Amino acid sequence: MADRVFVAVAWPYANGPRHIGHVAGFGVPSDVFARYHRMKGDAVLMVSGTDEHGTPITVAADQEGVSPAALADRYNQVITEDLADLGLAYDLFTRTTTANHYAVVQDLFATLHRKGYLIERTEPGAFSATTGRALPDRYVEGTCPHCGSDSARGDQCDDCGKQLDPTDLIDPRSASDGEAPVFRESNHFYLDLPAFAEALREWIEPRTDWRPNIKKFTLNYIDELKPRPITRDIDWGVPIPLPEYADRDDKKIYVWFDAVIGYLSAAIEWAHSTGDPERWREWWQDEAAKHLYFMGKDNIVFHTTIWPSLLLGYGADGGYSDGRPLRLPDNVVSSEFLTMEGRKFSSSRGVVIYVRDVLDRYQADALRYYLTIAGPEQQDTDFTWSEFVRRTNEELVATWGNVSNRVLRLAQQLGGTVPEPGALTDDDRAVRDTVAGGFASVGELIESAHFKAALQEAMRLAGETNRYISAQEPWKLRKTDEARARTVIWTALQCTHDLARLFAPFLPFSSQRLHEQLGHDDVIAPQPVVTTNTDAHGDEHRVLRLPEGATWGRWASSDLPVGQPLSPPSPLFTKLDPAVVDDELARLEARASA
Ligand code: MF3
Ligand code: ZN
Repeated sequence: MADRVFVAVAWPYANGPRHIGHVAGFGVPSDVFARYHRMKGDAVLMVSGTDEHGTPITVAADQEGVSPAALADRYNQVITEDLADLGLAYDLFTRTTTANHYAVVQDLFATLHRKGYLIERTEPGAFSATTGRALPDRYVEGTCPHCGSDSARGDQCDDCGKQLDPTDLIDPRSASDGEAPVFRESNHFYLDLPAFAEALREWIEPRTDWRPNIKKFTLNYIDELKPRPITRDIDWGVPIPLPEYADRDDKKIYVWFDAVIGYLSAAIEWAHSTGDPERWREWWQDEAAKHLYFMGKDNIVFHTTIWPSLLLGYGADGGYSDGRPLRLPDNVVSSEFLTMEGRKFSSSRGVVIYVRDVLDRYQADALRYYLTIAGPEQQDTDFTWSEFVRRTNEELVATWGNVSNRVLRLAQQLGGTVPEPGALTDDDRAVRDTVAGGFASVGELIESAHFKAALQEAMRLAGETNRYISAQEPWKLRKTDEARARTVIWTALQCTHDLARLFAPFLPFSSQRLHEQLGHDDVIAPQPVVTTNTDAHGDEHRVLRLPEGATWGRWASSDLPVGQPLSPPSPLFTKLDPAVVDDELARLEARASA
């Protein structure tokens, strides 16, 4: 039976171009997962967008000397195009500055307020002495009252690990201009998190499929829940939906409160765009739907604690609930950190490799391959250009690229169509069954979020096919026993045909090309397009989305029909010149010294 799967992908900040560590964390894993489920025939809805509010945006806008709105718009475009060219197949990748998103966020805020989950409190806040603007906790530095370290920040001391408030710091100063901040009383709304502690614990404790460290970390976090402010002294954010705040530009909703609500608002925007505005409920209110969230590890508490609390508090009483509660996350798939050339360049020098740096000069599938096979799935890892070149050449080109190329070349020599096989030998049947078994083995690994192992398994099956061809030597058979040569090539073609679909979740561009070289004219691995959408409130904005009527290859072994015309081979993957490594390192060197 088809499952209903909601794939919720963390929203990248629109404060600059994203680097390959970002897409290794939220992007490629979620796309592999969603493509697989679609091929399996499940009803998938995958949404995300750019996160465009808060200090991450205002600080970058100040640095570039533009308005927050202009900065967010510029990087929304950059990020949307990067994700499109990387082949991330969202149903909808939108943004947090849409009228629809504002309406959904404000309804959540107003509902939680009405239900008594928002507490008003007045606390001293730090403001810049020069600009008068509020200083986020992290931007206040000073001496730690516990250990005396002189580089403590207003949120914590990295030296002794103690949580701090800006008012705890001795000799506080602003991180941007070094001036002592001014402390002023400021009124804010706090989310009453302790009110949800019991419900959160009951929800998390029975989970057996969560990674043990995430479960333990979250349960510990819940033991110490305190109310958290969800408004900020800032002029850039979603307005507070209460009459007394209507005309005020000094306080807005906190960026993390608005961003997580994007998972819901994007589903609502998507449904509206399909002409059936209620369709999002099939994922959000159907008992049988599963919700999987993908993110980097620094986002975990927001998805295991804050967002579930908002959903619990909103319940069946919100303007969008229509009497039924909304589904809580079923699991979070988080990845560790990717460093980039960490041995040569310390990350403190700010040397990063942007997604565009790779897409401009190399194949998207080569990057997808690297980030899956050598990315930070279970532990922090380092991207190096020499490993990128080695893995592309020795694994992608030499194994999978070689099999597909070899098989198509042999088929050309036999007339360029799928040949008629004779009786199959045990060897023929064995390799065919081994490869077909990948739909179960690779599939299981993807479902349990073991993407690296899943791709290794697909590569193993490509290797088996290569070994079969080498052992059978069809190029010799062609001269001695043409009927047998036809059977061997038929067998190898069937394996290659299955492999194209086994690789499709990971390497959609090359799988689609190979599918066409194998004589098909349908789409098995569709790609998203950058376009515009108009939401229910008439707001038109840039989005990334799958084309209407997109089709997916079936996740099951199937026969390539005898007689089907085949294209001559053309390499799926580009072999890289080892000189690439020095070129790329020189580019990074130039960036580091700039
Ligand atoms: N913008 C945040 C980051 O890059 C992630 C937001 S995820 C969301 O760390 F759920 F809040 F959207
Ligand atoms: Zn300290």
